[in-house]
Amino acid sequence: MAKDLLWRALSIDSISPEYFPKVALYLKNGSNYVLYKDPERVFTADDFRRLERNLAKFLYVRSGDIDVLNEHVESNLGEMLSREDLNSTAKSRILYQASVNCVIDMFESPEPSVNLLRCRNMVEHIMQFVSEDTHTMESLQTVIDCDFYIFAHVVQVTALSLLMHEKLFKLAPDEMNDVGIGSLMHDYGMTFISSAVLERKDALSDIEYWKVKQHTQKGYEYLKSGGNYSDIVLNIVRYHHERYDGNGYPTGIKGNEIPRSAQVAMICDVYSALVMDRPRRKANSHTDAIKIMRDEVKNGAFSPELFNYFERIVNERNGV
Ligand SMILES: [Fe+2]
Ligand SMILES: [Fe+2]
Repeated sequence: MAKDLLWRALSIDSISPEYFPKVALYLKNGSNYVLYKDPERVFTADDFRRLERNLAKFLYVRSGDIDVLNEHVESNLGEMLSREDLNSTAKSRILYQASVNCVIDMFESPEPSVNLLRCRNMVEHIMQFVSEDTHTMESLQTVIDCDFYIFAHVVQVTALSLLMHEKLFKLAPDEMNDVGIGSLMHDYGMTFISSAVLERKDALSDIEYWKVKQHTQKGYEYLKSGGNYSDIVLNIVRYHHERYDGNGYPTGIKGNEIPRSAQVAMICDVYSALVMDRPRRKANSHTDAIKIMRDEVKNGAFSPELFNYFERIVNERNGV
């Protein structure tokens, strides 16, 4: 799937010097990785300026160092996010980057409970951030390396879906956490599909499209078999491509037979896919994405009522 997991991309904007542990950072030059900073050297404001001049957006960490980095970032995340001298853009970048790192590990091994625990903590942070911050939905284009599209996408769906649930429904904290985990894992089944298919720039053949559609059922079956995931999580994974009119997949259930959390995930999923760059097309603006989705409501894709709520909530967050 995400190729090149020997190296992890790190958005330069997400590096906060005081919170950066002693790990080496590399620049990517063609297909080579060149040492940018050794573990001992501190990342400074000059580094930011220099990299900015060179239009570099990402530095890379060896996967062997990623555990040190994640542990460091995750244990300081609460403190970082409550700092008053960091603006909300900086905070959201740090949070997105940390969430993406966490989800990559979760997609690589969804069974070890330590990864699940990390993701639960991450969901708590995302939840708190989306409920307090008014700029949650910043574009992720600059934050996430395009090879890592799927991870950026699931984090965005999670933030949106938690925001929707928080605004619209009164869920217990445990249930909210499961909504978050389900949203983070909704496309887990994509790990069963070859990257050749996922990264194709031209249209998919019927067979390839059929394979991609399998990600819902395959993800569901795999995660269910381990016994670690609740029904809320499994419902989101299985039903997030079911359409309100019954023409979705994998089962074709319709209307409110589709679990509510999966209906919300479906709306957030389509929005996220529209506003991000994809191998086959460029990103849409927020306004265009909403327009496209409104037409989709007329075609029967989503519950009109839920979509109206969604539109109101994301418009507000986007200052529309
Ligand atoms: Fe999906
Ligand atoms: Fe998705």
